[in-house]
Parts: sequence; structure tokens; C-alpha cells
Amino acid sequence: MVKVSSGFGRHPFRMLLPAVPENVERAAGILRAGGVVAFPTETVYGLGALAFDPAAVARIFEIKRRPSFDPLIVHVLDGAMLAKVVAEVPPIAARLMNAFWPGALTLVLRKASLLPELVTSGLDTVAVRMPSHAVARALLERVNAPLAAPSANPFGSLSPTRAEHVAAMLGDRAGVVLDAGRSEYGIESTVLALEPHPALLRPGAIAVEAIESVVGPIERGASRGPVRAPGQLPVHYAPRTPLRVIEPASVPLAERSNSGVLGMRDAFEGYAAQRSLSRRGDLREAAACFFEALHELDALGLERIDAQPLPEEGLGLAMMDRLRRAVS
Ligand code: TXA
Ligand code: MG
Repeated sequence: MVKVSSGFGRHPFRMLLPAVPENVERAAGILRAGGVVAFPTETVYGLGALAFDPAAVARIFEIKRRPSFDPLIVHVLDGAMLAKVVAEVPPIAARLMNAFWPGALTLVLRKASLLPELVTSGLDTVAVRMPSHAVARALLERVNAPLAAPSANPFGSLSPTRAEHVAAMLGDRAGVVLDAGRSEYGIESTVLALEPHPALLRPGAIAVEAIESVVGPIERGASRGPVRAPGQLPVHYAPRTPLRVIEPASVPLAERSNSGVLGMRDAFEGYAAQRSLSRRGDLREAAACFFEALHELDALGLERIDAQPLPEEGLGLAMMDRLRRAVS
């Protein structure tokens, strides 16, 4: 993919710290002192704070300008940390943890009573995941406490898959950003509720089909029903440039010259800018550069972005979910 070097405005690059051990230690110190740090995970970059420090968690809401009814995901290193944040691990959750942890599956479980309500926005459940990214794990190990961390972007905008995205979107407000390059999956974790039955709250980096191969059929419509997770809000994950989901081949040439196109593999004539997600038509490869491509197109000052519909299977489901919510 072509890297766009301008258009993000002035980067406060001094905040980006390469994720070497000294800087991980420094970031851990900031967190232990009640501060906030942006760090890489295998899905997207997160903005973390001690889950058991309500003042630090409040700072996350402030930095993201996130409504406080929107609960955060708690990140844990291991079973011992998990035991501090949840009340219990039902058998079905244990099966899913065995299959997908550490990794990009977030499970909604009954919360431990001591976990601050601000983290869960007053719900009696907590969303929890065990990241696989080596830097996220090193940070958790150094801090030795669970970290609440939403994606490190302003509420409602595109998720960051590079440290530079965090710096460009949050500026000085982000504090320190540990930089480990591009996130492997490039799309957020899959969020699954378990009670009264497994239900998909947010399609994400772990395909529904893979989850169903472990626990059988899960309710898929939950992410379209009444809002249970703000990732379910109708407009979310949105670029500043107006976006529509449309088959680019059907767009008249005259309408293309001031627009950008986000497609899978085809080339389209006449657009001012084009990003193709995977020449091989591979949905996983496409997801890995999905938000990055949207960030790049968004930085070009185009009149509109035309996004080609993607097949709604595997990671295509998560990308189509994000595209529909990006429509303005
Ligand atoms: O991949 C990810 O999940 C990233 C990285 C940083 O781990 N995090 C992330 O967090 O995407 P965030 O806050 O942007 O999205 C968390 C989603 C939201 O849609 C939220 O509403 C939902 O999880 N959620 C959190 N707690 C919940 C709960 N108790 N019940 C239902 N949904 C919950
Ligand atoms: Mg988010």
C-alpha cells in the first residue's frame, strides 16, 4: 500500500516511543502512577489505564471524549489477572478461552464486585480479553494489573492501526504512545455476550464461523438490535469524509474525479485516489489494512469515499459492519 506522508497535520512525534524494553518500563511507570498510555495490540492500538483506578479510567473517557455510558474492555495477562475482574468463568467461556486466548476475542462476563463501575458503565458485566501482542503482554506483565483500554481514537472515529494514527487523532492528549508498527489484524476484537446464550455484539478479528466451530450456533443479529454496545451505534468508526457503500463500477465516471474508492482487488478508472485491500482477494489481508486505507483516503481532503461492498463472511462481516456505520 502507498504510504501517505502528509495530510495528517502536524504529528506530535515526540510522543511516539519505540516499544523497546526501556520504553515499556517507562510506560508501565506512567500507568502505575495513575496515568494513561497508548499501546499496540494485535487488533488495534488501545488507550490504557489501570482498571482498578477510577480516576485514571475517567481520564480515558475525557481523552476520547467518550460518553460514560460506553463500557471499556479490560485486558488481562493471565488467569490470575482474569480472576480479579470477573465473578466467575462459566464452562462455555472456558472453552472459548482455550480456543482463542490469548487473542482477539472479547468475552462479556459477570464482573467482580470490586471492579469500578466506571469501567463497565454501571453494568454488572465486564468485557474482557487476553491480548496476544508481545508488547501488550510485556506492558501487562510490568504493570502487573489489569488494564482498561478502548481503541485509542476519539469516540466515533476510525480506529488506529498505527502509532501515528493515535498521535494524529489524539495529539498531546494521548500522552505517550508505544510504537510497534502496524497492528496485525487491523480490526477490533470480536465481542461476544454469553448470557442467556452466546450472542455476537460486535463482529471483529475472530470470525464468527470460527467461534461457532467451538460452541455451535450463536445469535448473530444482536449487533443490529437495540444498543447493547456502542460499537453498535448506527454511526461509529466514521472518517470525516462522507462515505457511501456502493459498487464502484456502477458510479458514473463524472462522479469519480473528486472521490476516492476503497475496493477489494479491482482497479477503477477515473477516481482521484484508490486503495485496494487485497489483490489476492484475501479477507484477512484486507482487514489488516482496512482502517489504514480509510485513514489515508480520509487525509486527502476528498469530496467522498465510495466503498465497495465486501463479502459478509469471515473478516468481511466485521469490515462491512464498520463500513455501514461509517456511512454519513
Ligand atoms: O480490539 C479491541 O477490542 C480493542 C483493543 C484495544 O483491545 N479495543 C476496543 O475497545 O475496540 P472499544 O472500547 O473501542 O470497544 C469495546 C466494545 C464497545 O463496543 C463496548 O460497548 C463493548 O465493547 N463493551 C464493553 N463492555 C461491555 C459490556 N459489559 N457489555 C457489552 N458490551 C460491552
Ligand atoms: Mg472503539
